[in-house]
Amino acid sequence: MNKKIYLDSANLKEIEELGETGLIKGVTTNPSLIAKEPKNDFQELIKKIAIYCNDKNLSLSVEVFTNEPSEIITQASELWEDLTKVIEEKNLAIKVPVSFENLKVIKFLVESGISINTTCCFSTNQMFLASILGSKYASLFYCRLRDNDENPNLVLSETQQLYSMNKVNTEIIAGSIRTSDDVLQAFSNGANIVTTSFNTIINMTKHPKTDESIEGFLKDFKNWMN
Ligand code: E4P
Repeated sequence: MNKKIYLDSANLKEIEELGETGLIKGVTTNPSLIAKEPKNDFQELIKKIAIYCNDKNLSLSVEVFTNEPSEIITQASELWEDLTKVIEEKNLAIKVPVSFENLKVIKFLVESGISINTTCCFSTNQMFLASILGSKYASLFYCRLRDNDENPNLVLSETQQLYSMNKVNTEIIAGSIRTSDDVLQAFSNGANIVTTSFNTIINMTKHPKTDESIEGFLKDFKNWMN
């Protein structure tokens, strides 16, 4: 599977700006990213994002905003029903945090035909269990795990090995990515997808020697022309 970059944002302007570049193949949101946006109608905001993602053939992950299993089923089903009216099913996933109680919910939702992004994963065990239940994605919180003095690269490589041994279709998403170096580390250690902020993606395009080289070329050419 090709390595892909997703934009971790609920800001429509950021999504549109990067969507036009072809650099991103998807968008991931979560309740905290939504809460960064001006106070608005959640359904309206997420529907606008879904319509744009559908137009650009971008994957979209939308997270439930409860951790109560029966409520998760209700919210996931309603989100799926509402959003698949404006975005193709192949491009939509509902994010459900991993836990023993939620794994039973994830199994039910997957069997109901809803694509699940099992999120808030911090261990190989959680990533592996997510794949057993048929999650479309399993999302590892890379930097938050490193903040906890653990090794996200090891979790990614162990997960990749287990997924390949089990021949599962679950894609490994590395979220909680803060720098362009984290992006490369996550890809090198097994992530299929890295989801990160607008600024981190912009920073991936930058290097001081690039600016210096461009400036030098243009200066030399200008001098030659005069
Ligand atoms: C994945 O989509 C996660 O929700 C997200 O990347 C978490 O990132 P954070 O640790 O910066 O909140």
